Amino acid sequence: MSAIRKAVIPAAGFGTRFLPFTRAVPKEMIPLVDKPVIQYVVEEAAAAGITEILIVISSGKTAIQDHFHPAAELEARLKASGKEELLAELAAIDALANIHYVYQHELNGLGDAVARARTFVGHEPFALLLGDTVLTGDPPVIGQLVEAHERTGAAVVALEEVPREKVNRYGIADAVSRDGRLYEVRALVEKPDPATAPGNLAIASRYVFTPEIFAELDRTGRGRGGEIQLTDAMKLLLTHQPLYGLRFEGRRHDIGNKLEFLKSTVEFGLRRPEFHDAFAAFLRDIIRNEP
Ligand code: UTP
Repeated sequence: MSAIRKAVIPAAGFGTRFLPFTRAVPKEMIPLVDKPVIQYVVEEAAAAGITEILIVISSGKTAIQDHFHPAAELEARLKASGKEELLAELAAIDALANIHYVYQHELNGLGDAVARARTFVGHEPFALLLGDTVLTGDPPVIGQLVEAHERTGAAVVALEEVPREKVNRYGIADAVSRDGRLYEVRALVEKPDPATAPGNLAIASRYVFTPEIFAELDRTGRGRGGEIQLTDAMKLLLTHQPLYGLRFEGRRHDIGNKLEFLKSTVEFGLRRPEFHDAFAAFLRDIIRNEP
C-alpha cells in the first residue's frame, strides 16, 4: 500500500496550443481513442494506490466534473437495453478514487494552480500529475516516483531523456546519477540553449512533493510569461533541501501539443486489439498511397 494517499491534478489552463478545440472544451477532455486524457491520468494515480484526488479547474472546465459524475439517466437507459459491459466500464470510473475539485479563479500559471491545493494536501506528501499528459509505464509512473520518495524522503521529479537539440523546449535538470535511475538534482534550467544546456534530462509532468513546496510557492514571484512557475518554486526548494529526479520507465504523451496528440492517437489505436488489424492495414494503405 502506498504511503501517499493524495494527488493533485492541475487542469485549469487555457490550452492555447490546442485552439480552436479548447475554445469550449477543456484540453484535458481530448480523447485518445475513447477515453479523455484526464481519465488516463486519474487511472495512473489510482493504480499507484492513491485514493484522494484534487482536480484544479477553472470556469469552462465543468465537462471534467461531469465526466467523473454518474449520469443517472444514461445509466438507466444502458441498463434497460442490457448494455452491461458499458455500465461496468462507467461504474469502474466512479470507483477509481474520491475526486474533489478546487477553482483557480485567475490563471496565474502552474505554480499558482498547485498553490490552490494547500488545504487539501494538509501535512502529507502528495503526488502531482499534469492533467494534459499521459504517461504509460508498468508500474505506473507516479508509483515509480512514490517508491523513490519512500527511499529518499525527499521531493522527486520525473525525468525524461530528450534529444539534445530539443532541450530548449523543456525545463532541464542538471543532475548526477545516484543509483540506477535515481538522480540528485543540482539545478534546474528553463528552456536552455542546446549548446550550453547542463544535460538532456527534461522535467516530465509528474512529481512527488512534501508540503514544504507551498512555502516556496508563497515566496515565488511572477516569472516567465508573468506567471507563477512551479519550476521557480522548485529552484527555491533546492537551495535548502535535496531534490531527486527519477528517469522513469515508460513513455510520455503530451496531448496539449497537436503533433504529439496525432502520434499518440495512432499508437493508442494500434494497441487496441479490436482495432489493431483494420487500423494497421488502413495506415499502411494511406502511407503507401501518399504522394
Ligand atoms: P500547460 O502550460 O501545458 O497548460 O500546463 P496551458 O497553459 O493550458 O497550455 P497552453 O500553453 O496555453 O497550451 C500544464 C497543465 O497545468 C494546467 C493545465 O491545465 C495543464 O493541464 N494549468 C496551467 C493550470 O491548471 N493552471 C494554469 O494557470 C496553467
